Amino acid sequence: MATATINVNNLSHYYQDGDYRRYVLRQVNCSFEKGRFYTILGQSGSGKTTFMSLLGAMDTVQEGEIQYQGYSHKSLDPNSIRRNYTGMVFQNYNLITYLTALENVMVAMEVTENRVPEDRQNVAYNLLDYFGLPRSKANRLVTRLSGGEQQRVSIARALATNVDVILADEPTGNVDADTEDEIVEIFKALAHEHSKCVIVVTHSSEIAREADVVLKLYKGSMTLDE
Ligand SMILES: Nc1ncnc2c1ncn2[C@@H]1O[C@H](COP(=O)(O)OP(=O)(O)OP(=O)(O)O)[C@@H](O)[C@H]1O
Ligand SMILES: [Mg+2]
Repeated sequence: MATATINVNNLSHYYQDGDYRRYVLRQVNCSFEKGRFYTILGQSGSGKTTFMSLLGAMDTVQEGEIQYQGYSHKSLDPNSIRRNYTGMVFQNYNLITYLTALENVMVAMEVTENRVPEDRQNVAYNLLDYFGLPRSKANRLVTRLSGGEQQRVSIARALATNVDVILADEPTGNVDADTEDEIVEIFKALAHEHSKCVIVVTHSSEIAREADVVLKLYKGSMTLDE
């Protein structure tokens, strides 16, 4: 059997409340493959961001295990997971505000240990152009771009490091309906044409309708929505 890109085994997570452990995730089991577009739905406070933070190694696994390409998180350096396995896209873009779009993408290429082409600047320009940002916009400070444009920069940045997995937490939370459609098309293309594993947390049932697999987080459990 082929190794899943990400395997989640009995993952539980709690936040400490005085002496009390308040569990947000309870024995979650699921797996994610390349070439597929997943969405995760769940009420506010159901633990979606917590789950994504664990997948992206932004938070430490307490109980259970996450495997990346068959390797347990226990045997991997969290920095290496962040730099080499996963690219994150956030609702608020989290771009570096004093840099241009091009520079934001190039910074990510500097820190990864994955193979990136020698000619980084051209690759970054091409990537931005692919997402609808020509040179005139690529050379602009990101704060001078619209919200939708900034989100495209953040997707380009997530991809620049040549990672297999794109993790997006409510990526269209701050954009209008048309821009949301365009961004969803980008995620679909990343999965179906570029063989990425794309996992998107959303409140939007319209985005979920476009996904190959819909997962639901409810009372700490993850279930397939069929
Ligand atoms: N660092 C933290 N310390 C304590 N509790 C936390 C922490 N982060 C999240 N929580 C709590 O854990 C629960 C799950 O939070 P999480 O942010 O994962 O939910 P979410 O599904 O992403 O919600 P939303 O849809 O509103 O973004 C919430 O009750 C939240 O208050
Ligand atoms: Mg959240």
